[in-house]
Amino acid sequence: MDENLLLGVQHIDYQHHEIFRSFQGLLSSGTGDESISEALSRLTSLIHNHFRSEEAFMDNLGMPAEEILAHSRAHSEIIESLTSIHLDAMMGLRVPFEEIINRVSAYTSQHVIEFDLGLKAYNSEPD
Ligand SMILES: [Fe+2]
Ligand SMILES: [Fe+2]
Repeated sequence: MDENLLLGVQHIDYQHHEIFRSFQGLLSSGTGDESISEALSRLTSLIHNHFRSEEAFMDNLGMPAEEILAHSRAHSEIIESLTSIHLDAMMGLRVPFEEIINRVSAYTSQHVIEFDLGLKAYNSEPD
């Protein structure tokens, strides 16, 4: 994973690492025995679990409520995009799988840069 995306919070960095590793795995070896739909479900659940964990972490940082709200809203938007990408894939709008994963990976990096790295400023506790 790109070092510029590290927060210095071990469990969050680990989860981000797992998500990016999952994108890489899907790009390099495809979906394996899974269908595209199964791969997207697995990815969505990995990302969803991470968001829940990150939101729980945020709640204890003493961040302003409106920042927490904006960050959580950005998480919901990513889940909504993933759901709509999944529906498009199932309806046979033939976007190549590699392009789907590249798109989701780009959203995710963008989110880490725009939102997650901002958590550093509030995190005074060593992990
Ligand atoms: Fe986030
Ligand atoms: Fe995150």
